[in-house]
Amino acid sequence: MNNLFIPQTEIDRQYEIARSLVSETAGKKACVITFGCQQNENDSERIAGALELCGYEMTENPDEASMIIINTCAIREHAEIRALSEAGQFKGRKERDRSIKIGLCGCMAQQSHRREQIYKSYPCVDFVFGTDMHHRVPEIIKNALTAKKRFSFITESKHDEFGIISEGMPVRRENSYKAWVPVMYGCNNFCTYCVVPYARGRERSRRREDVVAEVKALVEQGYKDITLLGQNVNSYNGGCDFAELLDECASFDGEYRMRFMTSHPKDASDKLIDVIASNKNVAKHFHLPVQSGSSRVLKLMNRKYTREQYLEKALKIKEKNPEISLTTDIICGFPTETDEDFAETMSLVKAVGFDMIYTFIYSPRPGTVAANMEGQIPKAVSNERFKALSDMENDIAQELNDKFIGKTLRVLSDGLNKNGVPCGRSTQNKIVTYDKFIPAGEFVDVVIETAGAYALGGKIK
Ligand code: SAH
Ligand code: SF4
Ligand code: F3S
Repeated sequence: MNNLFIPQTEIDRQYEIARSLVSETAGKKACVITFGCQQNENDSERIAGALELCGYEMTENPDEASMIIINTCAIREHAEIRALSEAGQFKGRKERDRSIKIGLCGCMAQQSHRREQIYKSYPCVDFVFGTDMHHRVPEIIKNALTAKKRFSFITESKHDEFGIISEGMPVRRENSYKAWVPVMYGCNNFCTYCVVPYARGRERSRRREDVVAEVKALVEQGYKDITLLGQNVNSYNGGCDFAELLDECASFDGEYRMRFMTSHPKDASDKLIDVIASNKNVAKHFHLPVQSGSSRVLKLMNRKYTREQYLEKALKIKEKNPEISLTTDIICGFPTETDEDFAETMSLVKAVGFDMIYTFIYSPRPGTVAANMEGQIPKAVSNERFKALSDMENDIAQELNDKFIGKTLRVLSDGLNKNGVPCGRSTQNKIVTYDKFIPAGEFVDVVIETAGAYALGGKIK
């Protein structure tokens, strides 16, 4: 395990390279474009931190930037297509100005068949780097500024052998009161539909003291909403179990909320459920992806729990934490999914009563077990199931949200929403709108007067 941690001498070397670039990058701008999950958002914050260290000024507008990095996602085909079309957009600009450098990184870059495609069909992409190369961004940027040829920084070892942890590189946080803190990287679960274990390598945990120190510093800087990240946080083993880590991170003085993403149902422990109930700084929200309500499909997905086991866990979470919101992910149209299987998903959803469901249509991922299974489901059938599930969930969410009417919720303000209405989030992560502007990052009590399926509305108390 020890060789997982990048030695301090290597980190120091990257700082040195970054400093050596500052005169060359003076007055230049860089832009990071992000697709995918919170893990990728956080990776982009680290890439942006390294770019700043190299002397770039960060911009959100790629047209102003001379260094553009596209951080990609490979979870579904749609995500890959979006990232590729983003890369393609820079073709014309790149032809006019060769000094602009375009890099592509993230989960797509980690896959050899995609790298080949990028190499052949996207000549505007100058360099690619993998998901375990973030600490080497200064070196990569130096290469990009000097190399005459296109290049890549990729660990070529097998997916179950790659993966590192680096500490001490800068992070440029996008938000001044909400923050992501990774606790572990990679995934060993190999759900048969999923690309993540191939794109992110094997599971590895950050040291407990490093995570706790990062959270403590964030709380001291005034962060109010901090999410511990991992593909399967319950596998955390950096010096304690995840429940203890969460409890410790939520033990500092002051009003703030600790959240976590994501928990695998097979090992979401009683201890974790108890920590959520007993620690006031832990948000009352549990995202517990079920994927399917059919034990037969769950087995084919390699999820390692049955419908009954999931139901028992979900109901226990609700019983121990009556004010909690429970959300989930569901895949429609997994290979061989029958109408009966789907009916079981519908009935499970009803039995649990989810506050929100992220519903996805199954997308075959090259190299995964499910992509080669017989019995792929026609798109039209998956679409129908998707719609039926969304319609039912709408009614369930409405019913659950109606129960908040008349109650007072503590809300962390997000300032104004895109329609100019004051809004924020409750501990359950519900969107709440209200009558008076409150600066983003401040807590406020709101008496709930109206409820929709996706948001609550009220007046400040
Ligand atoms: N680590 C998390 C999930 C990460 S991916 C977990 O295990 O819960 C987020 C969600 O994307 C998954 O929960 C799943 O519902 C969906 N997903 C993953 N692969 C998919 C695929 N091939 N097609 C459709 N949806 C997929
Ligand atoms: Fe993918 Fe399963 Fe790992 Fe989640 S637990 S990242 S769904 S393989
Ligand atoms: Fe996408 Fe990679 Fe996250 S595939 S969902 S960016 S781990």
